[in-house]
Amino acid sequence: MQYNKKSVEDIDVAGKKVIVRCDFNVPQDDTGRITDDKRIVASLQTIKYLLEKKAAVILCSHLGRPKGQVNPKYSLKPVAERLSELLGQEVKLADDVIGESAKALAAALKPGEVMLLENVRFHKEEEKNDPAFAKELASMAEVYVNDAFGTAHRAHATTAGIADYLPAACGFLINKEISIMGKALADPARPFVAILGGAKVSDKIGVINNLIEKCDTIIIGGGMSYTFMKAMGKQIGTSLCEDDKLDLARGLLEKAEQKGVQLLLPIDTVCADHFAADAEPKTFDAGNLPDHMMGLDIGPKTIDLFSESLKDAGTVVWNGPMGVFDAFAVGTKAVAKAIAASNAVSIIGGGDSAAAVEKLGFANRMTHISTGGGASLEFLEGLELPGIACLQDR
Ligand code: ADP
Ligand code: 3PG
Ligand code: MG
Repeated sequence: MQYNKKSVEDIDVAGKKVIVRCDFNVPQDDTGRITDDKRIVASLQTIKYLLEKKAAVILCSHLGRPKGQVNPKYSLKPVAERLSELLGQEVKLADDVIGESAKALAAALKPGEVMLLENVRFHKEEEKNDPAFAKELASMAEVYVNDAFGTAHRAHATTAGIADYLPAACGFLINKEISIMGKALADPARPFVAILGGAKVSDKIGVINNLIEKCDTIIIGGGMSYTFMKAMGKQIGTSLCEDDKLDLARGLLEKAEQKGVQLLLPIDTVCADHFAADAEPKTFDAGNLPDHMMGLDIGPKTIDLFSESLKDAGTVVWNGPMGVFDAFAVGTKAVAKAIAASNAVSIIGGGDSAAAVEKLGFANRMTHISTGGGASLEFLEGLELPGIACLQDR
């Protein structure tokens, strides 16, 4: 999917009220404390640019899935506080989204000031992409900027519908995400190696299908690898398997072969007889697991095999852990290390893979860690993202 959309730099924002959709959907602990502010930090460039240009900035986002109900648990208050620390200026938080509080704050907002609406998913109209709701939101501003890459795969009122009522451009984060990932897919430095893991084949069928057209090597680890193993007639014990996807897995294996794409699967497997953090791990040859054993991580020979093929890669796309994260993380960590050690252009997507890279302190060795989970997957699948498609062409 190629985009040629207006960016925030292509439109006149000086002195204007600009409504900016961010993805402030950050993880929190039980007390509401933000445990990872990466998405807030990633939104700063666009916000600072707008403030420097003397726009009055009205921010909006969802947080969690409050299902159309006002619920204090999903308030954006912790985000307003963190953002205000990061910006070094007050971020006024409205009590509502399109109510009196929001409208009064927006009307009084001066150039160089910034405010945040409450969680847009407090209204069921948001996810329904209700035009009247989008129009109400649009009435508070003169320009719309979408910088919520992580939510760009959703066609909601604040991610797509609102663009019908205002001049609409993307922010720096969306620009960065699509230009780095777009370039890697369109014109990759070779060999181009994709490494995919995670629980389910069904989540990543589209991605594998699309990457077979583009990659030189596809490495498959994690929970989804057992469905491929079984499809090849191997013994996988009690490992995770999607029995209704066996034909599909066979089809993908055949397609890779036809296209001359090397498809690597694990050659050994760390197992336990049940899944628990303290279960005693045993290693077996892959595809030769005893009936009562469950595969939970890739084994040491597989780590060597995968690391070897990542060593000379020109481009690496990685999405999904190699084992049950966090308890069986040896394989995931080894893959993160191998990517960090290579000189490849490296693109990491997905919550668990990104978390592994960050925990290990390899984040600055990667070319790009996407702020998108589902959005980065859909992008890799080659699907159109409604939050970007809705913006004005250059
Ligand atoms: P990401 O968050 O990086 O995008 P996914 O969400 O696709 O990755 O997959 C992560 C999930 O896959 C984790 O919950 C992880 O525990 C699970 N997983 C990985 N390997 C296995 C396995 N061998 N058996 C069961 N689950 C696994
Ligand atoms: C995400 O965390 O992937 C985005 O913020 C989208 O959230 P959603 O899956 O609830 O739409
Ligand atoms: Mg995940």
